[in-house]
Amino acid sequence: MRIDLLAGASYNPAVMPAPVPTILVFDSGLGGLTVFSEVLKVRPDARFVYAGDDAGFPYGRLSEAALTARVLSVMERLIGLYDPRLVVVACNTASTVVLPPLRERFSVPFVGTVPAIKPAALATRTGHVTVLATPGTVARDYTRDLVETYAGCCKVNLVGSRRLAAFAEAELSGAPVPDEELLAELRPCFVEGEDGRTDVVALGCTHYPLLLRRFQALAPWPVTWIDPAPAIARRVTQLIGPPVPGHEADEDEALAVFTSGAGITPAFREALRDKGLPLVTIEDMPLLQG
Ligand code: DGL
Repeated sequence: MRIDLLAGASYNPAVMPAPVPTILVFDSGLGGLTVFSEVLKVRPDARFVYAGDDAGFPYGRLSEAALTARVLSVMERLIGLYDPRLVVVACNTASTVVLPPLRERFSVPFVGTVPAIKPAALATRTGHVTVLATPGTVARDYTRDLVETYAGCCKVNLVGSRRLAAFAEAELSGAPVPDEELLAELRPCFVEGEDGRTDVVALGCTHYPLLLRRFQALAPWPVTWIDPAPAIARRVTQLIGPPVPGHEADEDEALAVFTSGAGITPAFREALRDKGLPLVTIEDMPLLQG
């Protein structure tokens, strides 16, 4: 039997029965899989729906108004279909602008993903920090405010890449791009000044950890790479509690839903299966405005 908490309430084990939630993890494409994997570790009992708005991909090129309208309409459809207990917006580009209107429109709790600027500022020894994200995310007031609030003591290098999210999709679909192309996107992250050089790179797009091994191999010098996914998973359990004891989720039930499905190849399906998403479905939602 499924017992849901009241929407918006935090989990309180003293007074509430243990819920078995449906968790919706949302991104423009495959980047949210890096967050999904971490959330799956902390709530292996949950039912998962992974939603990739591939008809809208990449979000990094959309204006704030177009992105807000797009995410609200896709979310409307997804929430109507799957009735999630909680939604993880596993996308920095969307979270840095769309969380307030989402929370205003829907009563379900949303957990967002924003660049890990505070952890980066705490981790640096040289004071040179890079935030690697989409052009949309680095341009946001939200991101600039995070820098001002948490990284006043550092030199923060904001790098917006137009191509890396698509490179990450290609990597997972079995068509990796050559090293030179990857390195061209990565090089601006590495700054060398008289007072030291970059020692921390915060990955401010959920697609980028899919390329982490290649980043590590290509980096001109070693740095600490920060992926916010484990922190997001912790936030999920703060909101809806730890796994329900004795409840095993049916692995074959985890569903991936896409709004176009145009790029779904056998290798892509295989990658989804490997990540724990054996079922794939299409909710056709063409992007009408760019
Ligand atoms: N994965 C997304 C993010 O975290 C965005 C990639 C895109 O659609 O541009 O920002």
